[in-house]
Amino acid sequence: MKIVLIGAAGGIGQALALLLKNYLPEGSCLALYDIAPITPGLAIDLSHIPTWVAVTGYTGKDITVALEGADIVLIAAGAARKVGMDRADLFNINADIIKYLAEKIAGACPEACIGVITNPINSIVPVMAGMLKKFCAYDKKRLFGITTLDVIRSEVFVSRLKNKDPNSINITVIGGHSAVTILPLLSQIQHVKLTDEEIEALTRRIQNAGTEVVEAKVCGGSATLSMGQAACRFCLALVKAIQGESNVIECAYVEGYSEYAPFFAQPVKLGKEGIETTLGYGNLSSYEAIALDSMLRALNDDISIGINFVNNHQ
Ligand code: 2OP
Repeated sequence: MKIVLIGAAGGIGQALALLLKNYLPEGSCLALYDIAPITPGLAIDLSHIPTWVAVTGYTGKDITVALEGADIVLIAAGAARKVGMDRADLFNINADIIKYLAEKIAGACPEACIGVITNPINSIVPVMAGMLKKFCAYDKKRLFGITTLDVIRSEVFVSRLKNKDPNSINITVIGGHSAVTILPLLSQIQHVKLTDEEIEALTRRIQNAGTEVVEAKVCGGSATLSMGQAACRFCLALVKAIQGESNVIECAYVEGYSEYAPFFAQPVKLGKEGIETTLGYGNLSSYEAIALDSMLRALNDDISIGINFVNNHQ
């Protein structure tokens, strides 16, 4: 199994690379790529950690070499949020990077599953999808916007409030990965009862959690360590599913499975080819139904930004 991590020298990339070096199954190959010349050195640094995961590092023009033979490509490349910015402010910088990467992936590893971390996910995943379509290398079952950070934040915040083990709580988060488009389904948590006031406060905190980190880091960027952990969880789930484990379920932002928007975060069952099937998420409470209804405009606007970019770059 070969996993390629693009943007490996950034804050998320380095955290994620360390986690993958430690937790990928024995015999995996982890290829790191970044435009930063430090990247081959990062690979050597990681290779001194005693696990059976081989690490290689590439920079500059070597992206095709890094990508060849990939089963999974994780994309953490691009600019991150600073104080006063929202995720949409990153679009113009990051969409060009994604366009370039789509062409390289289409040429080198068109069958790979792709996990996108680069923000703004709501718009960037449509750019990746549209560009891959242009290069005749698109399969909606293999492209994922990684929204696992919203899931782990939800699980941690609820478990802290209720004094529970965070690993005993599973929370579905639907919609997108930005502000009100993040909708945790807190009415559905098994064995946890939350009051209406708790649900409203938790929902707001989960939606605002990325900004909470940006503000707390002052001029130091956005979430990197928790994002690395979240992306690692998603990648390990995908690895297990590709290797044949059954019943592997994660939430992800995917195209073409929702009645609400062309791209939508929802629970998916992963399999050897990427998405095996999507899963329902039960009945929404009236609070959640209203929140879903009122986020759809923002989500569809975000998606349109990505689609328009693709249409203007034909
Ligand atoms: C966040 O939610 C980095 O978008 C990421 O913090």
